[in-house]
Amino acid sequence: MTSTAPDERVSLLVADGAGLSTLADDVRRGLQAPPLELPPKHFYDARGSALFEQICDLPEYYPTRTERLIIERRASDIARLTGAGELVELGAGTATKTRVLLDALRDHGSLERYIPFDIDAATLQLTGRSIAADYPSLRSVDCVAGDFERDLQLIPAKRPGVRRLVAFLGGTIGNFDTPARRDLLRTVASQLHAGDHLLLGADLVKDPAVIEAAYNDAAGVTAEFNRNVLEVINRELQAEFPVGAFDHVAFYDETNEWIEMRLRAARELKVTVRALGLVLRFEPGDEIRTEISAKFTPGRLAADLAACGLEPVELMSDPDSLFALVLARPA
Ligand code: SAH
Ligand code: AVI
Repeated sequence: MTSTAPDERVSLLVADGAGLSTLADDVRRGLQAPPLELPPKHFYDARGSALFEQICDLPEYYPTRTERLIIERRASDIARLTGAGELVELGAGTATKTRVLLDALRDHGSLERYIPFDIDAATLQLTGRSIAADYPSLRSVDCVAGDFERDLQLIPAKRPGVRRLVAFLGGTIGNFDTPARRDLLRTVASQLHAGDHLLLGADLVKDPAVIEAAYNDAAGVTAEFNRNVLEVINRELQAEFPVGAFDHVAFYDETNEWIEMRLRAARELKVTVRALGLVLRFEPGDEIRTEISAKFTPGRLAADLAACGLEPVELMSDPDSLFALVLARPA
């Protein structure tokens, strides 16, 4: 574990092997035999995070602008209901929408500390510095680089008497299947005390055509984002994936109520992964699942929260019921 202090209010704690710590195991486990699968966390090196930022601005990708609209409309209510002095953010990325929440907490007079948590240490550090610079009234910005399935215990304890709000925005919770999602929410809930809250962003079930368009954008940015996982493996594990030989596939699975992204081999391939001493073989049409993105009904959200010891305080949505923000507290 390492710690650096780029300015006196900003700290960075990096979990051992953050981000890349499971890549070798994930490749060994996920790419040698069907069903072929890689976890979505490996999209997010600096390039992957930048591609995600571009996705957020695409006309087809409704979640970001819709969640932003909900936050803009309800931020002052969230500040009043939570009275939070500390904002912890899981999967913070560039924290663009978070600024609306920070503004509201500052204007409410409670904001003291921001704690962004992300697997991409480079983007996280830029985010932390930029927030510290733009919010001079913050006493500290404590960045934690780690994997939220393994490293949540690295989040610093809260200051005595201060209320904490944990924000998990963007619908990232949908990138986990039900057991993993509940494990994660249970861990988050176990770290909340009386008076603390969770603010959870979740994409809602809707017309599959709208969802499929959001993950098959005309400009091809989502396809680049999807293929970026192969670029990461090439760089980190000295592999030789011909990245362009994999087609982007995204389709809505109505039974599971999730969209699935895959990479499909366009031809027969033999791929060396030098760092692991592996040769992977692909037939034309073989597919690697790289992400699920679950879509929620209010019932599914309520069941997940209840299973994890959380009680909804308020469900906030947009006029078209595209996206939801749930404010919850320990039950
Ligand atoms: N909250 C932002 C970014 C969402 S993108 C928004 O709403 O726009 C998902 C973010 O979660 C990325 O910044 C990514 O680096 C981070 N992330 C993905 N998997 C992670 C994991 N296992 N642990 C920690 N962070 C993760
Ligand atoms: C971060 N996560 C919520 C995004 C999603 O929509 O599932 C990642 C993404 N994948 C493709 N486009 C965006």
